[in-house]
Amino acid sequence: MELFAAIKGRRSIRSYRREDVASEDLKRILEAATDAPSAGNMQSWEFVIVRNHDTKEALVDAAYGQDFIAQAPVVIVVCANIARSASRYRERGRSLYSIQDTAAAIQNILLASYGLGYGSCWVGAFDESKAARAINTPTEVRPIAIIPIGRSADSPEPRSRFGLEKVTHPERFA
Ligand SMILES: Cc1cc2nc3c(=O)[nH]c(=O)nc-3n(C[C@H](O)[C@H](O)[C@H](O)COP(=O)(O)O)c2cc1C
Repeated sequence: MELFAAIKGRRSIRSYRREDVASEDLKRILEAATDAPSAGNMQSWEFVIVRNHDTKEALVDAAYGQDFIAQAPVVIVVCANIARSASRYRERGRSLYSIQDTAAAIQNILLASYGLGYGSCWVGAFDESKAARAINTPTEVRPIAIIPIGRSADSPEPRSRFGLEKVTHPERFA
């Protein structure tokens, strides 16, 4: 798929068919995630691949009842490995780069999933302690996003965006 078509065509999908995500597709999606840029190439991301029903339900609970998460055949929990980034960049790695690294990986997951014909959604509203418990994160690994992936059972209209004139600034803020 052409890059700009993928960027334009992707939507947050919150309803999935039962069809599984093929393991070779999942591998390509995860490889796309790890192709993302990262500060100092420290790659401060970790990916937990959830297929277990009970774990999905625990993630739904963590995410304040967003039950479409459990509908998806595969859920990827993208985590920031805080310690990895902090080992080189100290506080900036801990509070900023590790989050930016994972955000770049998340966007690649969304686009790669779409490119392979799957729907997905970046779920960021969740109780972090509950999510961490559901996937048993080690210390200094922080869940950043829960991403359900599956064949879409919905085709939502595009959400609107601010016009460029609102969010771009020639040279500096006025
Ligand atoms: C940081 C972040 C957190 C988000 N959290 C949620 C969420 O908890 N639940 C949800 O359904 N969508 C969530 N979204 C998806 C947004 O609602 C969605 O991207 C936005 O409305 C634009 O729609 P689109 O993705 O279809 O273009 C989140 C997106 C981001 C980037």
